[in-house]
Amino acid sequence: MTPLESLGEKYIQALETEMYALLSGGDSALEPYFGMLRYHMGWADESLAPTHAVTGKRVRPLLCLLVAQATGCDWQQVLPAAAAVEFSHNFSLIHDDIQDSSPLRRGRPTLWKLWGVAQALNAGDALFTLAHIALKKLMALGFSAEVTLAAMGVLDQACLMLTQGQYLDLSFESRDRVSVDEYLAMIAAKTAALAAASTEIGALVGGAPAECVRHYRAFGRNLGLAFQIQDDILGIWGDESTTGKSAATDIQTRKKTLPVVYGLSHSEELRALYAAGTQTAINMGRVIELLDAVGARAYAQEQARAYSDEAMAHLEAARPQGEAGLALRELTGQLLGRVR
Ligand code: IPE
Ligand code: IPE
Ligand code: MG
Ligand code: MG
Repeated sequence: MTPLESLGEKYIQALETEMYALLSGGDSALEPYFGMLRYHMGWADESLAPTHAVTGKRVRPLLCLLVAQATGCDWQQVLPAAAAVEFSHNFSLIHDDIQDSSPLRRGRPTLWKLWGVAQALNAGDALFTLAHIALKKLMALGFSAEVTLAAMGVLDQACLMLTQGQYLDLSFESRDRVSVDEYLAMIAAKTAALAAASTEIGALVGGAPAECVRHYRAFGRNLGLAFQIQDDILGIWGDESTTGKSAATDIQTRKKTLPVVYGLSHSEELRALYAAGTQTAINMGRVIELLDAVGARAYAQEQARAYSDEAMAHLEAARPQGEAGLALRELTGQLLGRVR
């Protein structure tokens, strides 16, 4: 087993137990409420019966735990922080699926598809709040009020940025053109902010010196940028049965993903297709042909690689220790080639 495989398995198992404990209640009237949350987390099926078939990749908590361990802290002490970043991520996904009208997530119907928008919004709010409750548990585990408050501040700032990124992402749908710089500012907020918070919190609670915390934050941020660009690529050229997400949504909603941003500035025909009005169904096959013809996929892949390299440089500068350090290097490499 590689360092990432062996640590990953151990960490994720403990993380699931930590998170699961927060998603249950005594009142039988609330069983369907907790059931809905468990469904989203991958622990229940549509009839709310237990299952363990489809959880997310748990990348952000893994980063948080590995960074803490690589700075010399016992990873088990940091589990509430890892739970907090994963709950925050999942709150954002439940709301994002409503905002993007996405019918599928992790190969299954989204919450709003099954239980309606109102209940899905409420479930997202629950996970947002649980993230904060989880993070506060750090104090009970012996971390100082100062460190706990600092971690809470980092998470709050990331969640706020996430909503700003979502605002930009949604507002770009009705724009004819978006520059690469505007695109980067949007993904830095909607995705990289939480990845940066995950690694920064890991380093903060690990007691790393300020310079090292900065490198870990920059590591997470750059990894988050590369991650979103890869998500954009998979949203167009990925296999729906592997990504678990609808392959049509991004193009039909005229998302300004990086391949599309590049395509719009290189193809007049693509500009004409996208300008046809947001209510008109778009010819997906033709869009993909045009993107391929101008080299939009290769361009996006190059950009993802550049941010991944930058992430690796910050990781090395942070001098991660031991097996967790090896696992962080391995994870960085693996995320670039991910297919789901
Ligand atoms: C999806 O994130 C949303 C993005 C920020 C691209 P992940 O790909 O980490 O989703 P899960 O949790 O593994 O399903
Ligand atoms: C990713 O959103 C960022 C957030 C969820 C806040 P996307 O809309 O790009 O991600 P997917 O493809 O639906 O997972
Ligand atoms: Mg979105
Ligand atoms: Mg989406």
